[in-house]
Amino acid sequence: MGLAIIASSVPVLLPNGSYLDLAFAPIVASMSLGGPVAAAWVSMVGTTQLRELRRQVPWYGILANRCAIASPTVLGALTLQLFPYRDIPLVDFVATLVAGSCYFTLNILVTALIVSLRDKQSTWHQVRSSGGAYLNMLALAPIAWLMAQIYMTAGWWAVLLFAMPLYTTRIAYTRFVEVREMFTQTVSSLAEAVDKRDTFTSGHSQQVQKISVDIGKAMKCSDDEIEALEWGGLLHDIGKIGVPDSVLLKQERLTREERMVMNSHPKLGADIIAPVKRLAPEIPIILHHHEWFNGSGYPDRLVADEIPKLARILHVADAFEAMTAARPYRMTPLTPGQALAELRKFGGIQFDPAVVDAFVKTRWAAGLTDPGRPSVREVPLIGQAAGGLSGGVPAGGMASAGTTIGGSTIEATPGQGPAPNGKGSLSAEPA
Ligand SMILES: [Fe+2]
Repeated sequence: MGLAIIASSVPVLLPNGSYLDLAFAPIVASMSLGGPVAAAWVSMVGTTQLRELRRQVPWYGILANRCAIASPTVLGALTLQLFPYRDIPLVDFVATLVAGSCYFTLNILVTALIVSLRDKQSTWHQVRSSGGAYLNMLALAPIAWLMAQIYMTAGWWAVLLFAMPLYTTRIAYTRFVEVREMFTQTVSSLAEAVDKRDTFTSGHSQQVQKISVDIGKAMKCSDDEIEALEWGGLLHDIGKIGVPDSVLLKQERLTREERMVMNSHPKLGADIIAPVKRLAPEIPIILHHHEWFNGSGYPDRLVADEIPKLARILHVADAFEAMTAARPYRMTPLTPGQALAELRKFGGIQFDPAVVDAFVKTRWAAGLTDPGRPSVREVPLIGQAAGGLSGGVPAGGMASAGTTIGGSTIEATPGQGPAPNGKGSLSAEPA
């Protein structure tokens, strides 16, 4: 119980917002040593956390935590008692692993159920997000078995020797979380450095990150995909580091050459982060965040589902942020309601309509009037039709979607990607 209290008093806050403590090992050891009753006491008392004593957790939270720990512990201990021949060390070892698995599996299921009720998310989503912790916890089961053996052979005091490896394991977890935090902060600083080159886009990437993560959650993306959106959101315009000020900050219409330089930023960005192996999932997001649903985007003129899902999500977030923020060419930004109307209007042309549907469910669209998907229309798959065009000169009636917002024309020029330098464009250029 003492070891469990020590292990629980210093939980590590994991990136997904849950707490990890190492009380698993002494609890499983207590199952082996004292059966269901002892295990119930150790789990009930031993898992008391400092934040609970400081009354930072409401009473029903404490009650829920106790239920999520004590009931699986008792069931795990009962499972252990079902095993015959436990006087054979190997059998006892296997039995402890099985009982530990039962306990932890039930603990995950009960916790997921409680959290899903609290956060109104699917239970399965919660179970999946605990999957990573599963192996880590099971790795502690052999230590638990060893603790029980030492307790019986050398005496209770010898169990205290396990405090040190448990403590160092905790330190390792803490370091992992810190390093990840530092990485995120470094990436944020880098993104802000790019945004700050243009006074109008300061904070743009942070906002895009938040919006795209919310859309991702509304689309029930996996934790890995959400993480990719977090970093992809921050880094999507990192390639602008390679765009000269004369182009990036130019107020007038860009020349054809300048536009080509500007439109190279997704490719430049992908090249910049390519050497960072940890950021490999972000490369498709960065490379394709200016592709249009109808194929008139850049750099590869991908169409519809050819565009990676996370890039389609980021494109909507990027455009919404750009439309609702002031720009030198449009000092009065659109209201969120106007921006949503534009997202709807260009669903199927510039944006994936399913992503816009998900956007409507996020807090960014809360309280806004949703005009809904436009009535069924022929979606011009410009990329397919114009695939053979070189130079991307607008071809006959293949046309541009145009409208006017805030005095600026929104246009989609086939084969050229969004409007010349994006000024007055729905797309976020120059972001
Ligand atoms: Fe961009």
